Amino acid sequence: MVFSPLLVAALLPIAAQAANDWSKPCFGECNWDITNGSGSGTVRLVGSQTGVSDLTTAAGWTILDCDPNTADQDIRLVCHDPAMGCDHLNQNGAAGTLVRLPTSCGSMPFAVVTREWVHEDQSIPASKLVRRDGSQPTVKGISLATDFAAVDPNVNGNVTLFVQGSSIPGVAGNFTVTPPTDGAVAKRGLFSWIGSTLKNLSEVHKNITGSAPLNFEKDVPLFDQSFSCPQNGAVPAFDGEAKVDLKGKVDGTVNYGVAAAGSIIPPKLDEFGLFVGLDATVTGTLGLDATLTGSISSGKIPLFETGIPGLDFPKILSIGPTFSVNAEATASLDANLNVDVDLAYTIAGAQLFFPPNDKPAGSFTPNDSNLKLSVSPNITSHGQIAAHLIPSLAFGIDVLSGAAKATINLDVDASAAVDLSLTAVAEAGISKDGSKSTDASFGGCVDVTTGLAVTAGADASLLSLFDKSTSVDLFNKTFDLFKKCFGSNPARRAYTGRAERAALMAKRASVGCPSGLLGKVASVVEEAIPAAKIV
Ligand SMILES: *[C@@H]1O[C@H](CO)[C@@H](O)[C@H](O)[C@H]1NC(C)=O
Ligand SMILES: *[C@@H]1O[C@H](CO)[C@@H](O)[C@H](O)[C@H]1NC(C)=O
Ligand SMILES: *[C@@H]1O[C@H](CO)[C@@H](O)[C@H](O)[C@H]1NC(C)=O
Ligand SMILES: *[C@@H]1O[C@H](CO)[C@@H](O)[C@H](O)[C@H]1NC(C)=O
Ligand SMILES: *[C@@H]1O[C@H](CO)[C@@H](O)[C@H](O)[C@H]1NC(C)=O
Ligand SMILES: *[C@@H]1O[C@H](CO)[C@@H](O)[C@H](O)[C@H]1NC(C)=O
Ligand SMILES: *[C@@H]1O[C@H](CO)[C@@H](O)[C@H](O)[C@H]1NC(C)=O
Ligand SMILES: *[C@@H]1O[C@H](CO)[C@@H](O)[C@H](O)[C@H]1NC(C)=O
Repeated sequence: MVFSPLLVAALLPIAAQAANDWSKPCFGECNWDITNGSGSGTVRLVGSQTGVSDLTTAAGWTILDCDPNTADQDIRLVCHDPAMGCDHLNQNGAAGTLVRLPTSCGSMPFAVVTREWVHEDQSIPASKLVRRDGSQPTVKGISLATDFAAVDPNVNGNVTLFVQGSSIPGVAGNFTVTPPTDGAVAKRGLFSWIGSTLKNLSEVHKNITGSAPLNFEKDVPLFDQSFSCPQNGAVPAFDGEAKVDLKGKVDGTVNYGVAAAGSIIPPKLDEFGLFVGLDATVTGTLGLDATLTGSISSGKIPLFETGIPGLDFPKILSIGPTFSVNAEATASLDANLNVDVDLAYTIAGAQLFFPPNDKPAGSFTPNDSNLKLSVSPNITSHGQIAAHLIPSLAFGIDVLSGAAKATINLDVDASAAVDLSLTAVAEAGISKDGSKSTDASFGGCVDVTTGLAVTAGADASLLSLFDKSTSVDLFNKTFDLFKKCFGSNPARRAYTGRAERAALMAKRASVGCPSGLLGKVASVVEEAIPAAKIV
């Protein structure tokens, strides 16, 4: 069979749409696309004519032996058509040249030639090829390596690197991103290239489906402590308990895109950007029941973690994201207390950029909520309860086999907080059975808020690009769910400030038995709060 590069090109799928054109040799500048698998994207390498070459059929090469699943290896190949430019490899010597590889050779798109020789095994499978003129080509041996740091940039110059990727398959050919062709783009230009690329990608993402699902549902105890309280003067012995539960649910989808610029020789990352498209509902019910006093701090409790589809440009850039959910509760208690409060948020069409640009696109809105609160009516109480349900996305990034590593985190912190400042009022105000009370039974104020904070941060310095401490609030808002003051002046005065309550809480190490009789709880509020009333 006579080898025909045109036939090969015609058989290659959708090559024309993507940046990497397998039908043309790439000399000095090569592209490589992810066109299948879990995501899509393009890598572009730009270097000197002597620094970047091609080992594919488009440049006249036919590879005879090469393991598609190995990176560093020795391969056998022949030049089947010198007219197509095989010799380009040898400009300034083959060693030290970065080459594009066909997908059938090597586990990565590009490698460095470290050695070239006339191979001792000159056999060519008959089926592989015969030159048009019938002559037998020489079989060459080439050593491929992926330790880009070992290449001396002084020999063939630097090779710059541009990467753009999307978590959505099939996007590669669908957006008009044009990596700068000039290798020596100024830093300022690179930064705007990253921004523009992410912006264009995020626009494409708005119109297509292919997001990964995010699902979580669990009813978890965040804190539960109980013990027998011995008789204490007039207070009889009883079994006390302090218990916090969270029913949490997250339903949503996520997609993301990346852009990076730097050099592969020498390995160095100059700019990096990530955007995340998020649609999600975060709902939960916080339940607290306490007949003990003291303070509770659950710490951050991991509830769930799973991987979401990553993006891999082998040996160049890989992104491995995870979705996790954490919860946290704190409380300071000095009365018998029952609380049920709903958290409910809808995040729609959010697009979050890191490093952050302007305000994030999309809407972050509270949904309908329910609130139930009962407390022992006749004591002075400065209770404070806060609970957080925190779905997080973590994007682990590895550039050029460890040349730069970081994790970019995106936390969506949905919280509810109850602040009580109640003062003891005259016994007369309390109904005798202690079960149901009127406003008159309480003095002081109750303040229930919910909050949504979206924070992005990098947990290691991705070279000098982001500070270790880079953490930014992309969205942070508190909504009033319920606020009411009861009784007269003394009660209002009892409404202590935040700092005062924090000090109160710090003083209390843990939960314990109450020093006096707390009395049965009476309902303070039981209300369904429509989203429209939550501002
Ligand atoms: C992607 O395409 C290559 C050939 O183009 C094939 O070898 C590989 O199995 C494909 N991967 C997936 C995940 O479909
Ligand atoms: C090559 O890269 C190094 C390291 O990034 C840089 O200092 C140098 O200026 C670059 N050389 C050229 C010619 O761009
Ligand atoms: C990419 O564009 C082609 C042609 O316009 C279209 O058929 C395909 O659905 C697009 N892919 C995505 C993921 O939108
Ligand atoms: C983004 O899209 C605009 C309009 O299509 C185009 O002019 C610009 O070059 C694109 N940006 C990049 C980095 O490709
Ligand atoms: C997205 O769709 C809208 C309406 O269908 C269209 O106007 C817009 O150009 C599309 N954007 C992209 C980036 O394809
Ligand atoms: C939340 O509210 C939005 C509208 O604001 C509504 O479309 C959605 O169904 C609500 N979700 C839940 C779980 O109540
Ligand atoms: C949100 O802002 C408040 C102050 O306005 C701050 O105390 C809180 O820590 C912020 N939340 C997050 C998660 O950054
Ligand atoms: C609170 O009320 C209970 C009865 O409901 C009573 O026994 C107790 O003494 C009262 N405590 C205080 C501090 O007034």
